[in-house]
Amino acid sequence: MSVVIVVGAQWGDEGKGKVVDLFTERADVVVRYGGGANAGHTLVIDGRKLVTHLVPSGVCHPGKSCVLGDGMVIDPQVLLDEIAQCQTRGLLMRGELLVGLGAHVILPYHKLIDGLREDRGAQTGRAIGTTRRGIGPAYEAKAARKGVRVRDLAKPARLRELVAANLDELAPLIAHLGGVAPSAQEVERWIDDALAAGRALAQHTGDASRHVAHAIGRGQHVLFEGAQGCLLDLDHGTYPYVTSSSTVAAGACQSAGIGPTAVGAVVGITKAYATRVGAGPFPTELHGEAGDRLRVAGGEFGATTGRPRRCGWLDLPALRMGARLSGMTSLALTKLDVLAGLSEVSVCVAYRLDGKELDEPPIDLDDIARAEPIYASFPGWGTLPSAARDVADLPAPARAYVETIERMAGVPFCLVSVGPDRSETIRLRDPFS
Ligand code: GDP
Ligand code: IMO
Ligand code: MG
Repeated sequence: MSVVIVVGAQWGDEGKGKVVDLFTERADVVVRYGGGANAGHTLVIDGRKLVTHLVPSGVCHPGKSCVLGDGMVIDPQVLLDEIAQCQTRGLLMRGELLVGLGAHVILPYHKLIDGLREDRGAQTGRAIGTTRRGIGPAYEAKAARKGVRVRDLAKPARLRELVAANLDELAPLIAHLGGVAPSAQEVERWIDDALAAGRALAQHTGDASRHVAHAIGRGQHVLFEGAQGCLLDLDHGTYPYVTSSSTVAAGACQSAGIGPTAVGAVVGITKAYATRVGAGPFPTELHGEAGDRLRVAGGEFGATTGRPRRCGWLDLPALRMGARLSGMTSLALTKLDVLAGLSEVSVCVAYRLDGKELDEPPIDLDDIARAEPIYASFPGWGTLPSAARDVADLPAPARAYVETIERMAGVPFCLVSVGPDRSETIRLRDPFS
């Protein structure tokens, strides 16, 4: 198995960063696909924390090639800051980073429009709760074939022309949303900043698709790192409460420009409970004290925006849906330790709608609002040893929980995570074997 895709199984923040860091031990190339700086991945290695938004979570393994695929939308300043942050820690010092020339660029007007829409949505009750990082507007420009790509940052005349053409169309929209269209000086500054960022990034840019294809051709191990989660997928998620890219496993092939026949395995990452940031359906959400307890115990505050994450019980029907959408061949279960201390742990095992039992959540927003989660309860466990390295080291109720979830999800586990640190992990199967 030389090509493995890692995806979030639900609504993001499942712990993909930690798992990608671990799997990178066995990889030669790590490719981030999809999305942009809406993602936030926290890595903890020997107690030291690193938060990444754009750079692949394999970055802590010097010498491994780290690629940003053409399907991404990249905020150049965020990327430069992140490269600088990594380099102060001695990472990315050997030319490991390759940014696809075809990736799209997030410019200040994308963030402006994202923010204005969210402000207006807050007044009308229709906010999506985006990260305001300009993701939607940048993908809109791409689909409209007007986007600015990384390759354009090296062409001042082309960049000027593209920005002017975009703003010509967007100025009325900005005014309609209650914003102030940028002045000529401001636009000039944006262009100068983008060109300067382009010059600084030039040493890291190239043909990402060929680079990945060559690695696969040579039999190297290639790890694809998904951002967000399957239920935030633009086509298959809880639309319109989704992000604007393909977060399912198929998005890896599209973003990186490789064929699906190259892929050997798909690992889904799921928490032992569930979280969601922003608006949208979350039937197993816990309100009040129970939700607060999970939020505090799990440190459930966004790595990108600092927003408190909504917390609830694990939703097995949603997990099954994610597994189906991405063709998962194994699952990594994270944050089992966060449930320690509860007298009872619940899991949604099915939904009931109009007298019928459903093994996946209904996707229509009206139906999901009416659907009733059916729960199973498990006895809790007092503590969980962070030194557990084998399922046999877990207290019996935690072991029973893990085994039942694995059986009911219908996908074998390859890893159980019992703490944020790289070392706090029970490894069951190597995804590359
Ligand atoms: P990602 O976006 O999927 O990479 O996930 P985030 O990094 O946004 O959020 C996951 C958070 O949980 C991070 O702060 C991780 O350090 C932390 N984490 C990962 N695995 C575990 C675990 O098993 N136990 C605990 N307590 N924290 C974990
Ligand atoms: P990682 O990779 C959790 C959510 C936002 C919002 C919706 C649309 O860390 O798991 P966007 O800014 O993309 O237009 O927002 O998607 N969202 C995430 N939620 N984790 C993420 O990334 C997310 N990226 C976007 O909260 O609901
Ligand atoms: Mg995250």
